[in-house]
Amino acid sequence: MANPRILLIIGGGIAAYKSIELVRLLRKAGHVVRCVLTRAGERFVTPLTLAALSENKVHTDLFDLKDEVEMGHIQLSREADLVVVAPATADLLAKMAAGIADDMATTLLLATDKPVLAAPAMNVRMWLHAATRRNVATLRGDGVTVMEPDEGEMACGEYGPGRLPEPAAIFAAIEAAIASAPVASPLGGQPDFAPANHRPLYGRRILITAGPTHEPIDPVRYIANRSSGKQGFAIAAAAAEAGAEVLLIAGPVPLPTPPGVIRVDVETAREMAAEVAAGLPVDAAIMVAAVADWRAADTSAQKIKKDGSGQVPPLALAENPDILAGVAKSPQRPALLIGFAAETNDVLDHARAKLARKGCDWIVANDVAADPMGGETNRVHIVSKAGVDSWERLPKEAVARKLMEKIADELDARIPRQSD
Ligand code: CTP
Repeated sequence: MANPRILLIIGGGIAAYKSIELVRLLRKAGHVVRCVLTRAGERFVTPLTLAALSENKVHTDLFDLKDEVEMGHIQLSREADLVVVAPATADLLAKMAAGIADDMATTLLLATDKPVLAAPAMNVRMWLHAATRRNVATLRGDGVTVMEPDEGEMACGEYGPGRLPEPAAIFAAIEAAIASAPVASPLGGQPDFAPANHRPLYGRRILITAGPTHEPIDPVRYIANRSSGKQGFAIAAAAAEAGAEVLLIAGPVPLPTPPGVIRVDVETAREMAAEVAAGLPVDAAIMVAAVADWRAADTSAQKIKKDGSGQVPPLALAENPDILAGVAKSPQRPALLIGFAAETNDVLDHARAKLARKGCDWIVANDVAADPMGGETNRVHIVSKAGVDSWERLPKEAVARKLMEKIADELDARIPRQSD
């Protein structure tokens, strides 16, 4: 898309200053930017700064009568290719979810027929509050892309998720949203969203594993790893958005189920293996889970106590089944089988070896030395027999969407559709 047009709505919050950097990045990339400041936003950044940087008029109030004559708010909301809300405050998200239109920003959001991307920023308690969880789930169900906020120390001194994602991450999410934006209808007029049966993965059944596994030692202790499940859940969400029937087999993670996804929760690798086997046949399986390689050889039915001697109890390990390799050998092997590999060194060599060892079609490799598990972005390399496809660093949601495009193309080649 040449010179994409971004309508940037800036909510009120201490993070609003970061929108200045976002405008700079967008302009540098050649995007046309039009800013809308909420009343609260105006207390943190000035219209003058934004007008100078965006080289465009800044809109601040619905009842700017002159604007209504020059350009109605309906037109303003539709001449953009993408509407971005950054920072999206708890209040703005709540109004968006409820369809409230009581000022310029919320009226534009209700009137738009374009994709909307929201980058939340708020206090950690507000982000974790049941009302915000509900609003975010509603918005995602409505097709709004709501980014995960960053985690860290907040302006208010508390710690946790709620910080506005860095401008570079919002910029990357914008690029991904533009890349996957609906195309103009061949009949002319407004671009249209694809109906379900025109979505790229419509009619495809996809199985996804995500998260860590927990391997019990005794009733209170377990062996685990640092997987957050975010990438796997983002992939499940993107697959459902692309029209697939999605079965998500999830290890223990406190993440909400993406809209339209069937989720089965498991604890251990062996439970995960059993649910995966029960979920076959599928057209594609994407094994994102960080399955524990070992479990305790013997699980104690009672809590293991110190005996006072200073002797540590022996912990014998047993190897878990390799779920991915098992599916590769199964008579119900999916047409497309994809593994993930988190590596700390020699990423591509290890990924190539893993591809052969596991018998899968692609390995999505990421360097966890540069990119610790649990973060919001990933830089991945898709390793297959055909070669290596390396992508730029992207938010996990964008990696998921891009992967779905590649999977849809590959499935169309491997299992041509009846009507093709
Ligand atoms: N995997 C699996 N079952 C296991 C271990 C791994 O299905 N018991 C899958 C993962 O979901 C992932 C891929 O295999 O898709 C690679 O996982 P990884 O842990 O990197 O592979 P390992 O075989 O455990 O190799 P390493 O020696 O690097 O840990």
